[in-house]
Amino acid sequence: MTCERRKKEGKIRIIIKPDLALFEKVIEYVNRNLASGAFPLLMRTDMIPKERAKVWLDKNKSGEQVVAIALNDGVVVGAAHMDVGCNEGGRTGAINVTVDKMYRRRGIGESLVRCLIDQAKEHGLVKVEAEPRADNLPAVSLFKKLGFEIASQRKLRTSAGEIVFHHMVLYLHQS
Ligand SMILES: CC(C)(COP(=O)(O)OP(=O)(O)OC[C@H]1O[C@@H](n2cnc3c(N)ncnc32)[C@H](O)[C@@H]1OP(=O)(O)O)[C@@H](O)C(=O)NCCC(=O)NCCS
Repeated sequence: MTCERRKKEGKIRIIIKPDLALFEKVIEYVNRNLASGAFPLLMRTDMIPKERAKVWLDKNKSGEQVVAIALNDGVVVGAAHMDVGCNEGGRTGAINVTVDKMYRRRGIGESLVRCLIDQAKEHGLVKVEAEPRADNLPAVSLFKKLGFEIASQRKLRTSAGEIVFHHMVLYLHQS
């Protein structure tokens, strides 16, 4: 599956080159879902200021961050981003994905991550990674379905107890 700039998945379109207005809509979408408790297994709990949209736009233009945004009739219903970094093995991407609670189990999360993987290949990245909480069954299953393997675990001590994260990796074989 290739990622086009505008792709139809039924009524869902996936956008990879958003403008400032769309990034502002993504911030509204994230804040709405954070406030409603729809992302309980994410570490983020603080609301994102609207001004952050300009930072995201600049990062997207520079290639520092790659995105895929799912729209349903102009409304953001899912978003994924990949921070592009570099280590001794080459350029890598760290992926995060969310889907609106009302739109889950329709293949949107999978389409968003596939879109990022396609872009990672286009950008010549050697691998992509994700770090879901080990108890986040939907996310762990999604990444496994797309070929990611658990490479290691990270444990974080918090006041509420210990949280375990899977470090999941997919190596990209360039053809
Ligand atoms: C994880 C998340 C993005 C999945 O989005 P989604 O659009 O519902 O996922 P999809 O419909 O594309 O599902 C693709 C695959 O993921 C797995 N999956 C998704 N939801 C699942 C669930 N509730 N239980 C088990 N597996 C699940 C399945 O393997 C599924 O493939 P299948 O339909 O062939 O069984 C969504 O649950 C979410 O936004 N969660 C909250 C935010 C979050 O925790 N993000 C992860 C950060 S790393």
